[in-house]
Amino acid sequence: MPLQSLAINDFRNLSNIKVTCGSDFNFLSGANGAGKSNFLEAVHYLGTGRSFRCSVLQRLVQHQAEKFILCGKIELGSNQAVLGIERSISEGQKLHIGGEKTNSIAEFARWLPLQTFNQESYQILTSGPRYRRQLIDWGVFHVEHAQLLLWQQTERALQQRNAALKQQQSRDQVSLWDREFVAAAYALHNSRELYLKKLVPLLRTCLAQLLDLEGLNIEYYAGWDMKRDLAEILQYSWTRDSYLGFTQFGPHRADLQLKIGQVPVQDVLSRGQQKLFLLALYVAQGLLLNQAVEKRSVFLIDDLLAELDMGKQQQAMHVLANFDAQIFITGIDLCELANTAQRINNKDIKMFHVEHGIIN
Ligand SMILES: Nc1ncnc2c1ncn2[C@@H]1O[C@H](COP(=O)(O)OP(=O)(O)O)[C@@H](O)[C@H]1O
Ligand SMILES: [Mg+2]
Repeated sequence: MPLQSLAINDFRNLSNIKVTCGSDFNFLSGANGAGKSNFLEAVHYLGTGRSFRCSVLQRLVQHQAEKFILCGKIELGSNQAVLGIERSISEGQKLHIGGEKTNSIAEFARWLPLQTFNQESYQILTSGPRYRRQLIDWGVFHVEHAQLLLWQQTERALQQRNAALKQQQSRDQVSLWDREFVAAAYALHNSRELYLKKLVPLLRTCLAQLLDLEGLNIEYYAGWDMKRDLAEILQYSWTRDSYLGFTQFGPHRADLQLKIGQVPVQDVLSRGQQKLFLLALYVAQGLLLNQAVEKRSVFLIDDLLAELDMGKQQQAMHVLANFDAQIFITGIDLCELANTAQRINNKDIKMFHVEHGIIN
């Protein structure tokens, strides 16, 4: 199991928590404001070094406390490690893996392949391409094993090029950055394309179990016209780039276009249907992780029941119960869902009750 146990100190309303996790399903039930989402937020923080709700450290540290500490015991294949994060208001951040100091949160992400489904996830469908790129890049990182350096190189070259454009530098000066940018762009694009070729068939299979979507079109846009060379496009669009002060084409504009016929899915699907669509997307990504690299993801689902009727809740549970991941689900009352999980598959299930920041 990826996350064997987790200790939380002074994170939001969770003062001193020690939890031994279930290998397959972990159901966290409790009233509003009990601390269920806070628990998921803590796991998310351990895997990503950031919160999914807020970027202000003071809000995450428990009122009156000075720091929070998260410590998770992880098992990945035959390897084990203890990941620790300490974030202090006055002293900054300390990261540990297996007792050794590190500065790289990417190492944490490698240990803890994490998927988080919460209110923000709807932005994958309803907001701009950035959220869909993040989703693709999760797979590029975990399945295609792209190194963080690839994004850093792309970003660095793009920023330098954009700065030169903003400063109205000459065409030759701007073009100095093109070679580095183009090389990184194609490397990133190739990984994204490779990943999506594997993901899309799985996504269609998962969607078929949850929704009746006729005419679904899934198209990857690289960020530029793939029939043409990016270096040429950059030259050709220089006048307008220079006028705008930024680079119009490149992997920073990539997108996964999801349409029914010609209409974006968010304009067709109800909120509940969007939830099922997103669930299928995450499950497909997790399945690919199982198949391609023999890893299990830790899948956090905040408030699974909301927006789904009873029939769809059960359908969602069937899809989740046949999927190999360590899943954490929060909800006000999850007894029925847990019974379903137990019936479908003899999984390792743990039930937690959350009340005023105490988890039992
Ligand atoms: N920094 C903090 N210190 C102490 N309590 C906090 C902090 N931030 C949020 N809370 C409390 O956490 C509770 C919300 O927890 P949450 O996990 O979102 O609830 P739910 O169980 O409904 O998901 C609120 O009662 C809020 O007051
Ligand atoms: Mg909540």
